[in-house]
Amino acid sequence: MLCCKQKAKHLTLGLSKTSEVRNAETKSVEDYKLILREFARDPFAVATVCPSSPFLARHLANSLALSSARVVVELGPGTGALTEAVLPRLKPGVRFLAVERNPALCAAWRKRYPGHDVVEGSVADLQQICRSQGIESVDCVISGLPWPSFDPELQKAGLTGVHQVLSPGGQMAAFGYHIGLLMPGFHRYYRMLSHYFSHVERLSWEWRNLPPAFVTRCTK
Ligand SMILES: C[S@@+](CC[C@H](N)C(=O)[O-])C[C@H]1O[C@@H](n2cnc3c(N)ncnc32)[C@H](O)[C@@H]1O
Repeated sequence: MLCCKQKAKHLTLGLSKTSEVRNAETKSVEDYKLILREFARDPFAVATVCPSSPFLARHLANSLALSSARVVVELGPGTGALTEAVLPRLKPGVRFLAVERNPALCAAWRKRYPGHDVVEGSVADLQQICRSQGIESVDCVISGLPWPSFDPELQKAGLTGVHQVLSPGGQMAAFGYHIGLLMPGFHRYYRMLSHYFSHVERLSWEWRNLPPAFVTRCTK
């Protein structure tokens, strides 16, 4: 039998758990609203109407050797759906930097991860951004970027930037949506990957995402 004090403790714990769940739900509704609003403002750069699912985020994070990385960069973190899977996999002391072009998404990410660095800027300027942050070389790049909807110049500048900052043997994991396969920009981007990386692997599909997506892992 629980005494009154223990019962009160159990009740309090139960209540705090409920409010945690409620907070998480509110956060996710806010994320959806923000992504949708920014998509309406800039559809080609945001390129999605909702954040990536936790399943896709885990899939991407598990495709990189994050536990042995010393420097990790996330491109296009948006509301932080992928970040949520990446950060717990990093060893203490790892340098983590996010690069987000959209000011509203950048501000939302900064608020959500106050102890971590995010630079408002474009992947096209990745090398300068890394240098300005004292980063010479990067072990893993996790990309949430809509590469197929970029024009050829941005695809080229972005891949050049990633290649310049990656250490030899460094890897980039990126996702692509199934509908993206219909875009000419996807095939151009995919062809470019083999110019920049020694090894390009298309990993399995993640159907538990809207829209369904697959992961590509590229090794320098
Ligand atoms: C498809 S959303 C992915 C958001 C988030 N990573 C996720 O998985 O839910 C693409 C993100 O890339 C950002 N982005 C687009 N172009 C960019 C660029 N040139 N440099 C950096 N970020 C960019 C967008 O603002 C947006 O946050």
